[in-house]
Formats: sequence, C-alpha cells, structure tokens
Amino acid sequence: MIKRIFFLFILVGTCGCMHRELHEVGLVTNKAMVVSAHPLASAVGAEIMKQGGNAADAAVAVQFALAVVYPDAGNIGGGGFLVLRQQDGSTAALDYREKAPAAARPDMYLNEEGEVIEGLSEKGHMAAGVPGTVDGMIKLHARYGSLPWAMLVQPAIDLAANGFPLTQKEARKLNDYRLDFIRYSSIRPEFILKDNWEEGDTLRLGELAQVLERIRDQGRAGFYAGTTADLIAAEMKRGGGLITKEDLAAYEAIWREPISGKYENYNVISMPPPSSGGIALLQLLHITQNYPVAEWGLHTAPSAHLKIEAERRVYADRAKHLGDPDYYDVPVRGLLDTAYIRRSMADFSPGKASDSDKIAPGVPVPPESPNTTHYSIVDPAGNAVSVTTTLNSSYGAKTFVAGAQFLLNNEMDDFSIKPGYPNSYGLIGGEANAIAPGKRMLSSMTPTILEKDGKLFMVVGSMGGSTIITTVYQIILNVTAHGLPMQGAVNAGRFHHQWKPDWVLSEWGALGMKTSLSLWWKGHKIVPKPEGGIGRAAGILVLPNGKLEGGADPRGDDAAAGF
Ligand code: GLY
Repeated sequence: MIKRIFFLFILVGTCGCMHRELHEVGLVTNKAMVVSAHPLASAVGAEIMKQGGNAADAAVAVQFALAVVYPDAGNIGGGGFLVLRQQDGSTAALDYREKAPAAARPDMYLNEEGEVIEGLSEKGHMAAGVPGTVDGMIKLHARYGSLPWAMLVQPAIDLAANGFPLTQKEARKLNDYRLDFIRYSSIRPEFILKDNWEEGDTLRLGELAQVLERIRDQGRAGFYAGTTADLIAAEMKRGGGLITKEDLAAYEAIWREPISGKYENYNVISMPPPSSGGIALLQLLHITQNYPVAEWGLHTAPSAHLKIEAERRVYADRAKHLGDPDYYDVPVRGLLDTAYIRRSMADFSPGKASDSDKIAPGVPVPPESPNTTHYSIVDPAGNAVSVTTTLNSSYGAKTFVAGAQFLLNNEMDDFSIKPGYPNSYGLIGGEANAIAPGKRMLSSMTPTILEKDGKLFMVVGSMGGSTIITTVYQIILNVTAHGLPMQGAVNAGRFHHQWKPDWVLSEWGALGMKTSLSLWWKGHKIVPKPEGGIGRAAGILVLPNGKLEGGADPRGDDAAAGF
C-alpha cells in the first residue's frame, strides 16, 4: 500500500500541463523534404536534392553532416539502420550496425566472481563496437546513389573545416559531458573542452574535416584502412580497447529484407533483426488493431491502458527472442503469427494492470522452415529513406579518437552482458543477445515507412534507446487512429512500458490528470521522465494532395527543410 501511495504522489507530479499543440501542422512542401535533428543537416539534405540528388544521395549527405553538427548522436564512429522505398514500390533495408570486435567474449564485462563491472560496457574504449556508418553509406551510394560520392561528403567537410554555431542545447550538453570527455579519451581532447560553451559559439573540427576528406577521396579505405584506421587502433591500444585494424578491415554493412506487414489498411515496412524494432512495432500494431482505439481517443484511459499492456507483452518477447539473426535463430514468423499475437493478450483485463512478473515471454509458433538520431527523407521522384543512426548513449563511449576528433560508440552495452542484467536502458536479455566475436548487438531502432493503397504514406522513426519502438508506435497511431497531422503526432505526449522495470515512463503531463488517475487505479505505476522527453522523432506525411508535411520534434533542435 505504501508503494501504491508513493506512486500516487509521483503521478500527481507527472500531471502538469502538456503544452505541445496537437493540431499543429508542420512545414508543407510540394516535392521534397528532409526532417532531421539539426537544421544545418536538414538544409544539407534539401540542397543535395535541389542539385538533382535523390533520397539516397541526400541520406548520405545528411549522415555525414550530422556527424559534424550533432556529435551527440550523429556519427562516423557508430552505426545505424536504414529502410528505403523506391518510387516504384521496391524496398530494402541496410544494416550498418556495429559489430563486436574479434577479441570480444561473452564474459568480457564480468569480474572473477562473475559480477558485472559497473560502467565498463557503457563508457570508454571497451564499450565500443566496430563502427559501421562509413561502409553503410558507401553501400547505400553504390546501389542507389546518383550524384558523385565526393559531392555528398563535401558539405560535411565544409561544416567541419569552417565551423558551425552551437545551438543552446548542444552547448549545454558539451559543458555537461566535459569531465567524461577528459576521463574516457586517452589524450585530452582540448578542442572540445572550452570552459563554458554558449549558444552561438563556433565549433571547428579541422581533424574531423581531414578524416572526411580521406573518406571523400578514398571511400572505404579512407576510414577502414590507412591513417584513420591507424588512429582508431592507436586510440584503442592507449585506452585498453579491443578494436584492431583487422576488425576494421573486416567490417561489412549488410543489405537485408525489410520486415513488412499489414496494419489496418496500411503496409508497414521496417527494420528486421538485429533490430527488434520492426518485429516489435508490427506486434504492437497487430495487437492494437483488435481494439477500438480510434473510438476510445488519444490519451484516454482505455486507450493508454491498452497501449501500455501491449507494450509490456511485446518487450517480454524482445528480451527472450531477439538477437543478431546471423548468430541466433530469431523466430520472426512465429513472433508475427496472428494467433500467437492474439494469444499474448488472452489475459488482458480492461480494468487492471498486469503484473510483469506474471508475463513470461511467449513460445512463438516455430517457423515453417528455418542516444541515436533519426532522419526521414522524401525526394521529388517519391523515393523515401528512413534512417536511424547512433553512438548509443549521448556522445557514445565519450571517447574521442585522438587526431580524428570523432567519438566512438558505446554500442557493446546493447548486448546482454549477463543474462537478466539490465543495460543502460533497463532492458534485459539472454542467450539470443549474448556477446560473441563479430556479432551485432540487438537494437531498438525502428526506421519505418508506411504505405497506404500501395502508395507512400509516411516516413518515420525516432531516437531514444528502448523507447524508440513505443515512440514510433504511438506516432503512427496518432496519425492513423487519432487523426493528428504529422507535426501534432510528433508533438503529442508519450509514455512507455518495456515489461521490466514494471512501470510506465511518462512525459510530464502527457496523459493528463484524469487518465493518469484512472491508470493508477488499475494498478499502473507511472513515473515521470525527468528531462528531455521520450524520444525525438522525425516524420514526413504524404498529404492527400501529394504535398509533404514534416513533423520535426520540438523536444530537440530538429528541423524540416524542403521545397
Ligand atoms: N543503441 C540503441 C539501440 O540501438 O537500440
């Protein structure tokens, strides 16, 4: 009872007003649009399309621009996933997720007693997986690009060499992470250690510009071999990390078949394993379409309760069944089986929260045979690209590669470092996501594209670790079931349940007093997300008249650009 009253107090604190406008319409353009986490990166993508580039060209240019202007998550030292739909309806998914180095071992983060060594998978050299971003962009360009490679890398080189003004948010974060940058880089990264960064200060990254020049001129070899590879290997050696030049030379991004499936009269195209995003999103949408959520309305108690209970069950499956398909037999078809999904809700009660301890991951039917950032792009021909890219946490491992001025990821923490031990997002896992040399760690990134009546309808995705899936899920429902415009759907308050821990994380005021009290009465434990909100999404909606509406997230510096 005391615990219940504690959660009631927290809940009352969560109920402050949510002031984001639900009916706001975002930027509307006639032909082309980019929505990303930074206005300069969105402008770069739009400019590439003005110069005749397609969505894939713009995606390459935005990825490299973000690596300069948005060091929080934009990267060349991390990885990502990309889903695309060509104007002719063909689709593809690109996996440029980081990989465990060859020297990685399942127990590499445990001490002699088998206990987890706090922080080792989260910060510093040992936390880094082999970066995939540069090879991902090269493979994307080789298959779908139309403009010369150099033209796509050049805007990022110019931004790095000439410098760019910091936003207020980025300046504050660089100040906040100052000590971490010193502690986890083997050589003090002076260029980023100004006493007090302020909005409008110029950040120049000359050595990063040189790395980008090598990538521009030598392609893959500009990063995975030669000077850049030497700098990464030397950084690893000084800091006691595992990545070697052989690991870098062996890295390959992979084209995969997207996960796709029907929800109402939409076709959802999303990322397959090693992301859990596509499968989990389809499971959530399949559960939801069996209930009258549109009739219930946005953020009402029955609607929020249903969504929370669906999320609880889907994340239980995620913990047990999802991992790198090249190492673990993920039961994709079983997890998406209609009867299996329906059965997972058999014990759902409209009046009562379930208990996560009593929700075990399901036994899917066997197959018949065997901190992150998102950007969305549509080009004038109607080709669409949905990209989520990451260093994992803000600024990844906090480790700068000396002489190269880019950050390494801390993606190793996305593995299950010990069965049942929560990672930095509180996610737990087991054998499916255990560490193995060369294996890709499980992800929640959910770059997604929706079709309606065989035509492009929406391009969407988000940052936010474990909350990415629920953010994308709720935004899709906000548009398709609750009738919001793209911008309003991105603005709307969010909440998140991931099975364990057994609580509903909620943005301040997202659910309102009436719904929050009703949920509390049903037994949900609601806790507020302290700052920054849940996820930062980027969406593009194709309007009935063929124009494009952008949804840029007000939780960040996000911006839409287009023409
Ligand atoms: N690093 C967050 C994710 O991939 O889910």
